[in-house]
Amino acid sequence: MSKDSLTITDNRTGRVYEAPIQNGTIKALDLRKIKIDDGDFGLMTYDPAYTNTASCISRITFIDGEKGILNYRGYPIGDLAERSNYLETAYLIVHGELPRKAEYESWVDSITHHTMVHENIKELMGAFRYDAHPMGMLASTVAALSTFYPEAKDVRDKAVRSGQIFRLIAKIPTIAAFAHRHSVGLPYVYPDNDLSYCGNFLQMMFRVSNRYEVNPVLERALEVLFILHADHEQNCSTSAMRGVGSSESDPYSSMAAAIGALYGPLHGGANEQVLRMLGEIGSKDRVPAFINEVKTSGGEVRLMGFGHRVYKNFDPRAIIIKRMADQVFEVTGRNPYLDIALELERIALEDEYFVKRKLYPNVDFYSGLIYQAMGFPVDMFPVLFAIPRTSGWLAQWEEMLEDKEQKIARPRQIYLGAGRRDYVPLDKRS
Ligand code: CMC
Repeated sequence: MSKDSLTITDNRTGRVYEAPIQNGTIKALDLRKIKIDDGDFGLMTYDPAYTNTASCISRITFIDGEKGILNYRGYPIGDLAERSNYLETAYLIVHGELPRKAEYESWVDSITHHTMVHENIKELMGAFRYDAHPMGMLASTVAALSTFYPEAKDVRDKAVRSGQIFRLIAKIPTIAAFAHRHSVGLPYVYPDNDLSYCGNFLQMMFRVSNRYEVNPVLERALEVLFILHADHEQNCSTSAMRGVGSSESDPYSSMAAAIGALYGPLHGGANEQVLRMLGEIGSKDRVPAFINEVKTSGGEVRLMGFGHRVYKNFDPRAIIIKRMADQVFEVTGRNPYLDIALELERIALEDEYFVKRKLYPNVDFYSGLIYQAMGFPVDMFPVLFAIPRTSGWLAQWEEMLEDKEQKIARPRQIYLGAGRRDYVPLDKRS
């Protein structure tokens, strides 16, 4: 019997089975041979929300939630946040290596020259209601892009995929900024290809007439925030991207699904909810009462921006963001909600309820405060998450398509519903 294996005794039959252990996992399919008799389907695992199931082998992002480690392609997030920029990090995530100079220049050039969107996209976005949420506009517009690039359907062609990767990384800030301009009734601002990725996004968001100077501190802060949000292995939206992409739908359709998943308040919508929560609390002296409400609500009221499925000691991204906040506030002025946030953090970190459940501030707790100080409306926060996560989604999508072990995603279920029943006509139903 191999040492790297698991011996399983089925107490229903007394039979003994051996399942190889590889990379700390057993294959769920190895359990299928465990049967009561020949008519039995075989044993399955039950894992709602995939809390203990690896759905793929990945070489992109490593997280050790206990130790608070996050590495992209082996590089610690802190080093990248300090020394890289978003586009270089995106190259690393997509290609697996840091680019050499010529590779970097060509990558930046290709992305910069795909930032424009078709004029019809403008019209399409103009059809949304004046108060449409920008995340809904983003998801719909990204889905609509598939109709502009029908060749993108050929997902088995690497060159075609590469073209869509440029397009999506390039166009997502343009669409995001257009969504914002639409909601405030300002004319759309076209990309300025002389600016950096983040500098250009800032000018598309905030330029009024011809006056807009990109502030280098805010531009750098945005680079760092984008690096921190670029990938996070198999989270809800990435699983949506992989799941939808596994049916070989085009990347625009798959990414629209990922944006939909990110929109939820438990995922990328959390930074928006943090700000709304801080607004509702209103002042520092009301923090203890709010904490009490969270604790006594039986899970109904959550302290938004706290807790994480994977990080159970600290979220390394939150620490980098908190450090950066001061630099931003020096330029923008202090966010008045900061005191409420600091008080929430102070009390929560001492309170048994949060300590026992290992609930710490996550990436979203402070990012919203920075975004708000920079002038982004709260509605835009999840969109600001989606822009950099585009590179992560695309890298994961590409990895999934190249993985010979992957097939169309199709989980099993345990059926506990009604047994076979006879149809009763409407007039005979009691
Ligand atoms: N406030 C209060 N209680 C909480 C919170 C919170 N933010 N998060 C978890 N809990 C409690 C929860 O009620 C449960 O308590 P009990 O054991 O008594 O039932 C326990 O902690 C475990 O919670 P869970 O829901 O089983 O944990 P999870 O791993 O399934 O959920 C989470 C992770 C991030 C969805 C959750 O912590 C949460 O809802 N946080 C607030 C939303 C948020 O900030 N999301 C952003 C996540 S980071 C950005 C990203 O990557 O998307």
